[in-house]
Amino acid sequence: MILFSIFLVAATFASGVASPTQNEEFVQRTNYYKNPIEASQTPPGILDKGPFRLPIEDAAIFMYAVHVFMGTPPQIFKMALDLQWNTLFIPSTDCEDYVCEHHMHFDASASSTYVPSRESLELAYEGVIFDGWIAQDTLNIGGLAVANQSFLEVKHARSIGFLNWYNDYDGALGLAPPYTNNLPHVPSAWQGIAASGALNRKIFSIVLPQGKRYPLSEPRTNGELILGDVPDNFDEENSIHLPLQFAPYHWGVSLESLSFGDIHHNFVNASAYFSSTTPAVVLPKPFIDEILSKINVNITMLWPWVGIPCEARDELPDFTIGIGGQKITLDAYQYTFVVHIPPHDDMGDGDTGDYDACRAGVWRGEDNDVELGFPFWENFRTVFDLEERVILLEPVNMESKRMEERSSVVVVVVVGIAVSLIALFTSAWGSWLILSCIRKRRSHTGYEPVTEPLERQIGNYV
Ligand SMILES: *[C@@H]1O[C@H](CO)[C@@H](O)[C@H](O)[C@H]1NC(C)=O
Ligand SMILES: *[C@@H]1O[C@H](CO)[C@@H](O)[C@H](O)[C@H]1NC(C)=O
Ligand SMILES: *[C@@H]1O[C@H](CO)[C@@H](O)[C@H](O)[C@H]1NC(C)=O
Repeated sequence: MILFSIFLVAATFASGVASPTQNEEFVQRTNYYKNPIEASQTPPGILDKGPFRLPIEDAAIFMYAVHVFMGTPPQIFKMALDLQWNTLFIPSTDCEDYVCEHHMHFDASASSTYVPSRESLELAYEGVIFDGWIAQDTLNIGGLAVANQSFLEVKHARSIGFLNWYNDYDGALGLAPPYTNNLPHVPSAWQGIAASGALNRKIFSIVLPQGKRYPLSEPRTNGELILGDVPDNFDEENSIHLPLQFAPYHWGVSLESLSFGDIHHNFVNASAYFSSTTPAVVLPKPFIDEILSKINVNITMLWPWVGIPCEARDELPDFTIGIGGQKITLDAYQYTFVVHIPPHDDMGDGDTGDYDACRAGVWRGEDNDVELGFPFWENFRTVFDLEERVILLEPVNMESKRMEERSSVVVVVVVGIAVSLIALFTSAWGSWLILSCIRKRRSHTGYEPVTEPLERQIGNYV
């Protein structure tokens, strides 16, 4: 946790503050861009009929990304996969701002299918304001060709504050449900995909990457996004059916109850949302505080991933969430996860890293709603079906997860007082920085759009 917090802070800094030279040093030191995109990577051949499949990989420490191609001939981009976002954007070769460095750039002049427009757009994403022109071109996503897909061709980008989280991906591929206040004339990627006529069914499925996380050095690549079908061998009939509860930008379901051991809360008028960019299960404050006092952690100090001793998983109670009229129970091997602490210099405590640590992926929310980030979601294969207004879940690997890990070596780390103090400071600092970035992003992307005028929510037309 300690080192990881430091890494988070370092990564945060490198993304927003460091000069280019420092940034390069940072990249070399941490090997952050372990898998740089090969611009020459072959795009998938265009298929007439689905399903269309593409790998999902870890990106930017706690996000996920897919590779898509834009233009003719195709140019490759690594896109953040975001279930709470709609507008496709990628940087243009014209963007010479520092924020655009270390990203792939779209060269409109090299594409024969590019359609320019005179409409400009400004939007904010993960602490960065992007502006440019709305353009259209052919999007190739997993072999599905979407002709004339609208996207923001970013000409300028600037950090909103001191920091941002625009690192390790070039743009965002949003799969939020279409929302009545969507930007006019800018259909989202999902709308383009659904309207292409190539899908057998207007659904998409997500299998998040599985296994131990090596967030910096070896992003997992074994996830899958499937357009137009359910995952292989998915038992639709016996899967968990959660009726959709619509809310702007959210794939939401009703939230009825939460239990952790003997702690139990019922909810009225509450919701749970799936999020592919939240590195935690975000729970209502009174509930999370009870949980944390039970597992002896002080959450005010540790974020985003509360460290717990791996062997504690054998004693921790089950976590049960009542959503969409169903009760889903996860044991401690499921609601916690394993992260590999990379090797590092001894900082005086004899700890040189290179071991596995356990994290309870929980965080405190501000209202009654629950956000289902990856620590919940990686336990399921999921199908998002807007037409039937339902989300389907099927548990993955539940038994094997527990078995595999029990047989692995558990390393107990003893931390000296001085280092603990550094950790407390660093973690609190890191959490403040990261949270403020994330909050900032929300305030600009229409998370609370109902009372806000459109231009405040997602950008301005000129
Ligand atoms: C894409 O837009 C261009 C320019 O408006 C148009 O000529 C072309 O027919 C469109 N292609 C498709 C497949 O709709
Ligand atoms: C639930 O929400 C509805 C609509 O906002 C409201 O009319 C109702 O009073 C709420 N119920 C409770 C118990 O808060
Ligand atoms: C948790 O942190 C807060 C804020 O620093 C502190 O006041 C409180 O005493 C801590 N509680 C425990 C149990 O360590």
